Amino acid sequence: KDNVKVGLLGLGTVGTGVVKIIQNHQEQLVHRVGCPVEVTKVLVKNMDKKRDVDLSKESLTLDPYDVINDPDVDVIVEVMGGIDETKQYLLDALNQKKHVVTANKDLVALYGSELLKAASENDCDFYYEASVAGGIPIIRGLADGLASDKIQKLMGIVNGTTNFILTKMHKEGMSYEVALKEAQDLGFAEADPTADVEGLDAARKMAILARLAFSMNIELEDVNVSGISTVSDSDLKHGQTLGYTMKLIGYADQSDERVEVSVQPTFLANNHPMASVNDEYNAVYVYGEAVGETMFYGPGAGSMPTATSIVSDLIAVVTNMRLGVNGKSISVPQFEKRLKSAEE
Ligand code: HSE
Repeated sequence: KDNVKVGLLGLGTVGTGVVKIIQNHQEQLVHRVGCPVEVTKVLVKNMDKKRDVDLSKESLTLDPYDVINDPDVDVIVEVMGGIDETKQYLLDALNQKKHVVTANKDLVALYGSELLKAASENDCDFYYEASVAGGIPIIRGLADGLASDKIQKLMGIVNGTTNFILTKMHKEGMSYEVALKEAQDLGFAEADPTADVEGLDAARKMAILARLAFSMNIELEDVNVSGISTVSDSDLKHGQTLGYTMKLIGYADQSDERVEVSVQPTFLANNHPMASVNDEYNAVYVYGEAVGETMFYGPGAGSMPTATSIVSDLIAVVTNMRLGVNGKSISVPQFEKRLKSAEE
């Protein structure tokens, strides 16, 4: 194949970043994968909106199936969000032997195993690095970089909105409401920020990470969740005077093949490395039996960081295409699931 064609589902903040990286880093992409990579069909919500990316009018469409059914498209990049309808689009794409790259954490957390199964049945790739912690390569970090170790514990600050709110409350004495409004204005928060502040967004990301870390089929309902909406200024101040910083911490640990996953507001001693992860930044702390302590830090959201992960996934897909080894998505052999219950 001398030219790989990409169909894009969604041209919002992240989709725009994907087009920019593919175009601006084209020379590097060609160098890495050995052929040009081009965005040829794009699902948009509005045909006439002015955008700061260079795409022909003919490449835009309002119908997702113009992208999914396009016989020239090799890879579908999904950055539209949504759950049930989007899942159907991706299943249809995989069943038509199109590889899929997605940033959709909700979908991967809820239906990851079904989508991975459809991918493997069709010898297609399904990559999702951007679904957790935007620009931080934590999915590959766990599935690849640390694959030889026995991971014992994960701690994650994986929701930028709540980290931003807590940082502003701590450092600037800002109220919860004002800080949330600022996070929304800056574009980190979900359309409905309930998923951020009630911990659901973090829980979805922790379920995805815990699966990879412990090779178990962790479901969203296995995660114990509480958010930050009930955290008061006085709670924070009290902790602060004692030398503690509050963070919304995703926690997952494994001992005796049993796993616990939770998300809850947690006071960390100020000298803990995770206590200095501020503003909208994300971090994942991983403790492995052999490697010991590691920490991954970086931007958890935003157009260009998230697009970086997506285009790196695209490089993996195209490399596999050229080697003829597709069907090698990031999935792991699953151990039997055993959860710690409250009584134990
Ligand atoms: N709402 C999410 C966050 C966006 O605040 O982290 C990135 O997944």
